[in-house]
Amino acid sequence: MRAIVMDGYGGPEALRFDEDYPAPQAEAGQILIRVHASSVNPGVLKRAGGALRGVFPDPDFPYVPGSDFSGVVAATGPDVTRWNVGDQVYSFGGPGGSHAELTVADAGAVSRKPDGVSHGEAASLALAVQTAALVLQPADLRAGRTLAVLGAGGAVGNALVQLAHLRDIDVIAVASARSLDRLKALGGAGAFDSVDAVPEGVDAIVNALGPQLDALALRRIRRGGHLLTLNAPPPADLAAEVGVHARFVNALASRPGPLDDLHDDIDAGRIAPFVGRTFRLEDTAAAWALYASREIQGKIVIDSSPEGLGSTGSG
Ligand SMILES: NC(=O)c1ccc[n+]([C@@H]2O[C@H](COP(=O)([O-])OP(=O)(O)OC[C@H]3O[C@@H](n4cnc5c(N)ncnc54)[C@H](OP(=O)(O)O)[C@@H]3O)[C@@H](O)[C@H]2O)c1
Repeated sequence: MRAIVMDGYGGPEALRFDEDYPAPQAEAGQILIRVHASSVNPGVLKRAGGALRGVFPDPDFPYVPGSDFSGVVAATGPDVTRWNVGDQVYSFGGPGGSHAELTVADAGAVSRKPDGVSHGEAASLALAVQTAALVLQPADLRAGRTLAVLGAGGAVGNALVQLAHLRDIDVIAVASARSLDRLKALGGAGAFDSVDAVPEGVDAIVNALGPQLDALALRRIRRGGHLLTLNAPPPADLAAEVGVHARFVNALASRPGPLDDLHDDIDAGRIAPFVGRTFRLEDTAAAWALYASREIQGKIVIDSSPEGLGSTGSG
């Protein structure tokens, strides 16, 4: 199969395109998926660069990188009854890499692709929407509460601002200046380019930017409120001192129930994708380099389909 392969840790320069890489097989409980699209995820680049050693097991090189994907079931392994060949599915990650023509996933770890989005759009949404849904799980984070999102200009922020708006949660979006108008249009009650704009006493903060902001965030949250971090576990001692529930959200370790629950919202465009650019599979190294440059906004999609992606439906 056609695949992007890494022979060791590295960045874009460590990616090679292989036209004849061995295809994975669906084992018991797994499905084989013909990938139409995958997307460029910050976590994948961090893992490929070795920054997440100790968090994830070392890849068994050579290794196909890539996490989110959307495609069509090509084969089912023994014991799989939930999916049939030809079903359109998407997922935030599986045991196989997604920057390839074929990948495998556990049958229980994929979701039915909404017809209202293309494969490229679905691949751009999967991890971001799952993460946003997990962030909003605390039972007291309901209508009328205030949530601040640090790093709202990215894919998770795009999903989170829309999802919180749907639930009538007031969102304060903190992002770079270029994102502010877009975030307001998505339903951000306020959009600012500085964390200093987050008032004291908010009900919750999502920190998608990094642990250096955890202490500041904890001091802006009301007692009994929530800090949800996406990059590293929050400081437990300080959280206890200020009386805030703080936890690290790990979407990759979750099951796709929250994503399944949002099927109709994605299908109807109430949670809309934000795709910046699409690259062909063989140009994945250029896609990664563009992501690392931060010169682009919107998710970067990798097109693995033989005929090229369409705009909606099965494309
Ligand atoms: N724990 C989990 O399960 C989980 C799941 C998904 C994502 N994450 C993490 O959450 C963060 C956000 O994910 P995402 O998918 O939304 O990422 P993304 O689409 O790449 O967006 C990241 C945003 O952060 C801003 N930013 C500020 N400083 C940055 C820096 N030094 N490098 C890169 N971006 C920077 C960028 O805004 P501007 O460039 O526009 O200013 C960008 O819009 C990432 O760190 C990712 O690894 C964690």
